[in-house]
Parts: sequence; C-alpha cells; structure tokens
Amino acid sequence: MHIDDGELTAGVTLRLLAAEDAQALAAAYAANRAHLAPWEPVRPEAFFTPEGQRQRIQELLRRHAEDSLVPWVFEEADGRIVGAITLTGISRGPFCSAHLGYWVDAGRQGRGLAGAAVARVCRFARDTAGLHRIEASTLLENTGSQRVLAKSGFDRIGTAPRYLHINGRWRDCHLYQRVLHDSDPVL
Ligand SMILES: CC(C)(COP(=O)(O)OP(=O)(O)OC[C@H]1O[C@@H](n2cnc3c(N)ncnc32)[C@H](O)[C@@H]1OP(=O)(O)O)[C@@H](O)C(=O)NCCC(=O)NCCS
Repeated sequence: MHIDDGELTAGVTLRLLAAEDAQALAAAYAANRAHLAPWEPVRPEAFFTPEGQRQRIQELLRRHAEDSLVPWVFEEADGRIVGAITLTGISRGPFCSAHLGYWVDAGRQGRGLAGAAVARVCRFARDTAGLHRIEASTLLENTGSQRVLAKSGFDRIGTAPRYLHINGRWRDCHLYQRVLHDSDPVL
C-alpha cells in the first residue's frame, strides 16, 4: 500500500516507522517523558529503552502488515524523531473506520506539525486506504489536541465517561470523527 510520506513542514519529514528506529524512538520518548505523561497510558520502563522499542516496533510492523494499523514518525534531517502519528484499529466492511493518535516533541510544538500530519493521514485514509471515517479522542482538558482536530475537519460527536486509562486512571474523553467520503464500502 502506498504510504503518503514526504516533507510535512520545513525540515520535518513524515515517513513510515521502520525496524531501524528503535534507538531514535527510545531517545524521543525518553526526552518527552514528562511532556507526554499526562496524555498517555502509564509506560513500563522498557518503553524508554532501545530494546523495548525494538520489540514494540516489531509488533507495530506486524500489525501494519496485517492491515490493522499504520505507524508514521516525524523525522528531522539529522535523523531525530520529533513525533509520531498512527492509525490503529483499521476496520473494513460496513464500518470502514480507524482511530487516530499523535504526539509532537515538546520543543517542536506550535509549528503546525500536528495539523499538517493529520491532514496528510486523512488524505491517505481516504484516497489510499479507502476508509470512510476516522475517529479520535482527547481528554477533556486537552485543548491543544481539540484545536488540531477541529482545524482538521473533525466534529465532536460526544463525551464518553471513563473511556481511556490515561496516566494511571480511567478518564472521560471527548470523541471526534471526520467522515472522509460517502462512497459504498467494499463488502
Ligand atoms: C496536541 C499536540 C499534538 C499539538 O501539536 P502541534 O504540532 O503543536 O499542533 P499545531 O502546531 O499543528 O497546532 C494546530 C492548532 O492547534 C493550536 N494549538 C496547539 N496546541 C495548543 C494548545 N496547547 N492550546 C491551544 N491551542 C493549541 C495551534 O495554535 C494551532 O491553531 P492555530 O493555527 O489557530 O494557531 C502537541 O501539543 C502534543 O503532542 N501534545 C501532547 C500529546 C497529545 O496531547 N497528543 C494528542 C492526544 S489526543
């Protein structure tokens, strides 16, 4: 399946996660540990090590090969990873949908990276993956992510109580969706 990669914003490229990224990804998650902690599940210590990331990447690429997930990273010219965006739970048939998640390095926020990546991934989901819809969820206080989604054409469709286990407890989330087209699915 063609992956819609290439330059995202000045000096930052969107590309598919690769088996060779374990070192760079572990370094990125270690550097952004405090920045991401309020918005993510509690990570085991191994998550911040090259070996932990090697195993995680292997699993993500396995699921990518099965067509249930697409993992991209944001890469700077020097090879540093400064964010990621992932379509998970890709479902075909009458649902034809996937879930979207993303993060941006603490020092690279506010430059339009997330917005550009969401636009690119929505295009991929519609034109290449043939999905009908993408959904996303944010904590109620994550106004940054809500702004990214609203600017990217997502509608808020509700609020789900105790929806995700984030930073150590079950948290309510706002749910968002963007409908990409209304063609019939391949059944
Ligand atoms: C949320 C996050 C992905 C935004 O990334 P980003 O690259 O800074 O976003 P962008 O630069 O594309 O911003 C898009 C819009 O959102 C706005 N925005 C971004 N962060 C914001 C914040 N914290 N508060 C208010 N607005 C914010 C920007 O100003 C911009 O709007 P504008 O063009 O009208 O000014 C980033 O802050 C992040 O990684 N946060 C921690 C992890 C996270 O929350 N992930 C999402 C989980 S649902």
